[in-house]
This record gives sequence, C-alpha cells and structure tokens, in this order.
Amino acid sequence: MSSGELLVEMRGICKRFGGIQALDSVDFSLRGGEIVGLVGDNGAGKSTLIKILSGVYGPDRGEIKIAGDPVRLYGARHAKRLGIETVHQDRGLVPNFTVSANLHLGREMTRFGLCRVKKMERAAREALESLGIEIQSYSTPVMSMSGGQQQAVAVARAVAANPKVVVLDEPTAALGVKEVNKVLDLICRLRGGGVSLVFISHVLPEVLSVTDRIVVLRRGKKVGDLPTSEADQDLLVKLMIGTEVVGCERS
Ligand SMILES: Nc1ncnc2c1ncn2[C@@H]1O[C@H](COP(=O)(O)OP(=O)(O)O)[C@@H](O)[C@H]1O
Ligand SMILES: [Mg+2]
Repeated sequence: MSSGELLVEMRGICKRFGGIQALDSVDFSLRGGEIVGLVGDNGAGKSTLIKILSGVYGPDRGEIKIAGDPVRLYGARHAKRLGIETVHQDRGLVPNFTVSANLHLGREMTRFGLCRVKKMERAAREALESLGIEIQSYSTPVMSMSGGQQQAVAVARAVAANPKVVVLDEPTAALGVKEVNKVLDLICRLRGGGVSLVFISHVLPEVLSVTDRIVVLRRGKKVGDLPTSEADQDLLVKLMIGTEVVGCERS
C-alpha cells in the first residue's frame, strides 16, 4: 500500500448499547502514512469506534473496507491478520508476566513445546531498542514498571506484528509529562517507519502536535473532520461540546 491510498474506510457505522446510541452513522477513513487524531468528550464513542475497527465489536449497521475490500471482521484476530493492531485503553498487558512474555503473548517462540525464553528475550530487546525504548530488565514483571514503560511495551507488542495500521486508545492517559513526550516521540518514529496511526486522546495539544488530520465525535456523531493545520484548541473544544460541525459530508 503506497502512501496516500485509502487503507481504512468505515461508512455509516452505528452501534447501540441498550438505550445508548454509542455511534450514529459515523464515517471514518485513514490513508497510508497518515496519523489521524480521534477526539471527543468522555462517552463520545471513540473507543467503541476503534473496537469496531479492531474486530472487538461488530457494528449494528455500516460497512468497513480495508485497502479497498469490503470486510466483515470476525474478532480481533481477524483484524490483526488484516494488519490492524490496537493498543486498547487498558493496554491489555498481563501484569505479572515479564516484558518478554507480554511482548510475545499469543505468539510464543517454542521448540519441542517449550518456550524459548532467551530467544524471546533477545527478540523483545531488539523490538524495543529499534523503537528507541530502553528497559532495565526484560525479565521483571511489567507491573513493577512505570506507566510509560508499560505503554511502551504495549506499543512495541502492537508494532512487532508489522501492521499497516496501529490504533492507540488514550496511550498518554495517566502518564507523567516526560513519559507522554516519549510516547509522542514513539508515534512520530512509527510514522517514519511507514505505519498509519489512529491516535485517541482528549489532551488536545498532544493531538494537535502529532496528527495530520483530526476527527471529532460528539455523542456518537462525527461533527468534525479537518486537517490539523486548520484546527486549534478553541475550535476543537467547540466541536466537542458545542453545536458546530466542520468538514463532515453528512449531517
Ligand atoms: N460495552 C458497553 N456496554 C454498554 N455501554 C457501553 C459499552 N461500551 C461503551 N458504552 C457506552 O457507549 C458510549 C460511548 O463509549 P466509549 O466508546 O467508551 O466512549 P469514549 O471512548 O469516547 O469515552 C458511552 O455512553 C458508554 O457508556
Ligand atoms: Mg475511550
């Protein structure tokens, strides 16, 4: 897939949970090499939209095309096979597993049915170092690491599968300033490696600093889709909580 081509096209996506319309006919697209920010107030539907893209939930209505082909995603594994890796808001790490074990979760290296611990540790080190991440010990449980380092392990695991699309759901929530900057650096480095990204955050300066385009959700509806160069914090806040709409083909 060359840069600029449509990698992901979601159209008319609807999702209801009981009495709540979490998504109401949302369109979302992502091109090769693009970083799209997805913003919105709490409960706007951001996580639900990317859970549909990553095969966790099926949509009630709407269609998804990946690299131009209409798909029905049968679970998270299917989405991964199609090159979509997601770091969910809860990171999905196993707290008492080591860095290495977390990195290889579900794709352990084995010989005669046994895990190849040293080989896995070496691979984990290479994966993290290639992303510029330093970890003191690959054999300590991730729960003893800082939030930023855990986030880095979760991102490294997503990237290790060599995906076309990486989705990061609130990767900087609960991190200190220094750690946030590391995660933002990492995002820029991933883009340099040709990966397309969806970056979800409600910290607007972060979104404005790393994205090419920003999509705004408000109560399950898309109310903004604009180049980052045309966005500022004031406008985004108005879109998130006000009544304005910018750059959406459909109401
Ligand atoms: N599994 C679920 N069951 C019931 N309601 C849900 C579920 N997931 C999300 N919701 C609801 O859907 C709406 C959108 O949630 P979510 O996508 O998590 O928003 P955001 O990520 O933008 O904060 C919220 O009102 C939320 O309470
Ligand atoms: Mg969320």
